[in-house]
Amino acid sequence: MSTLRIRRPDDWHLHLRDGAHLAAVLPHTAARFARALVMPNLKPPMTTTAALAGYRARILQALPEGMRFEPMMTLYLTDRTPPDEIRKARASGFVVGAKLYPAGATTHSDAGVTSIDNVWGALEAMAESGLVLQVHGEVTHPDVDVFDREREFIDRVLSRIVERVPALKVVFEHVTTAAAVDFVRGARPGVAATMTPQHLLMNRNAMFEGGIRPHHYCLPVLKRERDREVLVAAATGDDPRFFLGTDSAPHARHTKENACGCAGIFSAHAGIELYAEVFDAAGRLDRLEAFASERGADFYGVPRNQESITLVREEWTVPSGYPFGADELVPLRAGGKIAWKLVTG
Ligand code: NCD
Ligand code: ZN
Repeated sequence: MSTLRIRRPDDWHLHLRDGAHLAAVLPHTAARFARALVMPNLKPPMTTTAALAGYRARILQALPEGMRFEPMMTLYLTDRTPPDEIRKARASGFVVGAKLYPAGATTHSDAGVTSIDNVWGALEAMAESGLVLQVHGEVTHPDVDVFDREREFIDRVLSRIVERVPALKVVFEHVTTAAAVDFVRGARPGVAATMTPQHLLMNRNAMFEGGIRPHHYCLPVLKRERDREVLVAAATGDDPRFFLGTDSAPHARHTKENACGCAGIFSAHAGIELYAEVFDAAGRLDRLEAFASERGADFYGVPRNQESITLVREEWTVPSGYPFGADELVPLRAGGKIAWKLVTG
């Protein structure tokens, strides 16, 4: 198979930033995806429906003429998110979830949740009103090894949430380990996971290949080859709980190539093509459409897209950088080749 026509996909985990940065990255996503769940970890974080309404309007304004794209929003949960704010978010119609960042877990998560015991009321309100919880699943205790943070989070936090609020829909975001896949497979209905291209394509060696590679650093950090294999099997398998979320997270080049480099990998320039490589290598191109365009929509309870996109098996070279406002960003696979290409126009 060298041409692949699939239902237009959605990206269920995306960082768009704001202002000139937003304008620079949005077209990459909108060229491929019909909708995306836009992460709220801006500075300051998007902790209210009113703030999200403004942000959503800026996203739509930044969309180039002739492009169609629907931003779906998620509220940034804090220790003090009032249940009333949850109800307001639901009533807005454009907020579909709330995001739990353990405080300090990742980029712009300082205002995140310091203890799960502070948010039970908000989680109950979410379950009642039908908002989906998106979870950055890593413990932040400095004693826990960085490669074990996701696994530890399952027992210490996630399993408690899933048990105590049985009607809450939960997405374990950007899963990276065999332990996370096992958890999701065995969990009650209403629990799912997103998967990024980087965690399906690379293992942790990619961060140290011939020297330190800041552009392969993201959170959760890349894991072992064994974990990657389990992730690929889940993505390309027939379990509807696993679906696409790129976690494309742009940072200016100088903030990544830095003595204290930021976490985040930009992949929106090839946000579907990179997954096509994964599914092709696994001999399961026939499952790409389910993973990219169906399971996520079904889980979130929105209609599947009716349009389609076409991909061809045709190698192209990724630019060494893309404009990023006054800065430049370095995309995943910069200067290298990608085996699948989006047919545009
Ligand atoms: C994300 C970012 O840069 O906003 N970084 C990342 O490494 N994935 C935050 C996140 O999703 O953890
Ligand atoms: Zn993210």
